[in-house]
Amino acid sequence: MGILRTGRVQIRMTNWEESINYYKNVLGLIETAREDDLVYLKAWDEHDHHSVILQKADTAGLEHLAFKVESPEDLDTYEKKLNEYGVATTRIPAGTRIAEGEAVRFQLPTEQYVELYAEIEQVGNGLPIVNPAPWPDGLVGIAPTRLDHLLIAGEDVAGTTKLLQEVFGFSMAEKVVLEDGESYLATWLFVTNTPHDIAVIKGPNGKLHHVGFFLEEWNDVRRAADIIGKNNVSLDKGPVRHGITRGTTIYFFDPSGNRNEVYCGGYIAMKDHPTITWTIDKVGEGISYFDKDAGERFTSVFS
Ligand SMILES: [Fe+2]
Repeated sequence: MGILRTGRVQIRMTNWEESINYYKNVLGLIETAREDDLVYLKAWDEHDHHSVILQKADTAGLEHLAFKVESPEDLDTYEKKLNEYGVATTRIPAGTRIAEGEAVRFQLPTEQYVELYAEIEQVGNGLPIVNPAPWPDGLVGIAPTRLDHLLIAGEDVAGTTKLLQEVFGFSMAEKVVLEDGESYLATWLFVTNTPHDIAVIKGPNGKLHHVGFFLEEWNDVRRAADIIGKNNVSLDKGPVRHGITRGTTIYFFDPSGNRNEVYCGGYIAMKDHPTITWTIDKVGEGISYFDKDAGERFTSVFS
């Protein structure tokens, strides 16, 4: 039993046509299906039918995030654990979304909606599984390999962190603590072996700070910066090195005002390694190691 990864995000788009074009041709995700007000996309090295769903909406932000679990039985198990923990759940019937089975939906203490799902059609990564080339032809834009993580905001960082740890077995790679040396400003949590499959930061409830996609190497981050410049994408921060997670990264906004990140690097996270602590006076270098300046926009803009 277990969570495999952060498998999906559904993000609201106010600037519909421009946002679709951006996600396909600038960020470089691949469209796999479309309904009236939903576009389904995947990063090239993912095998599942989709990992990002764009939703036409009046406001930007996160409709929900979703963890992929190993088997349909896990849905029952986690639903029971959530209910015992005091969290209400609902079932999303199979077929509600293209190519997906049933899902369990609930809300975090920080007010984001989360779904668990096990079944999704696999469409492959554009390469054979026998003697594959390192990458497929026809990639466009930044072309990250996969959806990696997201950073969500809310008042009750401790509550969401505890729920993810106790119900789902997330481990904490790093944390930023406030002046009291204990309360969380932010936590970085993982079930895979990257430093974060999800991170949580103090901020307005229900909000999204960013969705992060993975690139293989530093040259790809530099190339992403070129593509951001060429396409007049609204750059937020970077390229920079994070002290936290050690990632090398760049942040920018989609045409609807949702923040995206593409990054590479970071270490392999292990459940038995100690949690790294950052004190509040060093948060600048935790976020932006070279200039030690987190930046006003980076710390105050959410969608
Ligand atoms: Fe990130």
